[in-house]
Amino acid sequence: MDKKVAELLNEQVNKELYSAYLYLDMANFYSSKGLDGFANWYEIQAKEEQDHALLIYKYLHNNSQTVTLGAIGKPDKEYKELADPLKAAYEHEQYVTGLINTIYAAAQAVSDYRTVQFLDWFVKEQGEEEKNSSDLITKMELFGGDAKGLYMLNSELAGRAYSAPSLQI
Ligand code: FEO
Repeated sequence: MDKKVAELLNEQVNKELYSAYLYLDMANFYSSKGLDGFANWYEIQAKEEQDHALLIYKYLHNNSQTVTLGAIGKPDKEYKELADPLKAAYEHEQYVTGLINTIYAAAQAVSDYRTVQFLDWFVKEQGEEEKNSSDLITKMELFGGDAKGLYMLNSELAGRAYSAPSLQI
């Protein structure tokens, strides 16, 4: 594997674990506010991010690459309003899409089509995650303004169930 592509994938393992930590911190914020449904949504999001990290980790090992695990940063976002984590999540997913696109472009540049094909799943996943996080902001704006609406939204988010990623390595 091209050295630069391997490095970027290795860094992405760390970024996905940081994402998991960031989402756990969002769950933490909502738990402290008594919004268990919102907390559930982000706990599951944190699990999905761990899955992403593991998929890339395994892909690197399956391609005879050495993986180096670095320190995971402290979640450093401050939340005041109930909508703040929703906005931060959307911004974060847009950032992650940019990271995936950078690895994709690097793999394409060296004709590493195996990695391109592997990353196709992540490209699609990012599209879904951006949509989900953007939809949540819209719902909060529409319904989150009064106690009844917030209760309903919290109940909806409590219904999210974890499912393993559709990509298997
Ligand atoms: Fe692993 Fe939310 O992207």
